[in-house]
Amino acid sequence: MALLGGDVTTTDQAEVLPLLMRNVERNRSWISQSNPDSDSVGSITVAELDWGNKEHIKAVEPPFDYIVGTDVVYSEHLLQPLMETITALSGPKTKILVASVPLSRDYFCKAVV
Ligand SMILES: C[S@@+](CC[C@H](N)C(=O)[O-])C[C@H]1O[C@@H](n2cnc3c(N)ncnc32)[C@H](O)[C@@H]1O
Repeated sequence: MALLGGDVTTTDQAEVLPLLMRNVERNRSWISQSNPDSDSVGSITVAELDWGNKEHIKAVEPPFDYIVGTDVVYSEHLLQPLMETITALSGPKTKILVASVPLSRDYFCKAVV
């Protein structure tokens, strides 16, 4: 999304941030090497966001145009804080893309209701 010119905020829990930062740095260096015209490239930042944590949510300055989550619907007890967080990060025009393998039909329905 940064390659398309978007300003991207990547988030995870505190203990995962070092790994996330490494991944972002690798992508950033690949992007700058393969795109000499860096004016058309957006930014990528890393932020701590524990789902449901109101301070973390406020700190990333919602609303976002897009919210993208991959493989984040994997544990039932996380559904409520995840859905609350997605809602809190959204505005009326936010597009939400969540890609996950549902563990069961009931489980998936609970997540999207
Ligand atoms: C299965 S991994 C998927 C990671 C990555 N999105 C991917 O597709 O490779 C689930 C991710 O959700 C994060 N996660 C789990 N519980 C969380 C919570 N309460 N708040 C924020 N992130 C959480 C984990 O740290 C982990 O990075």
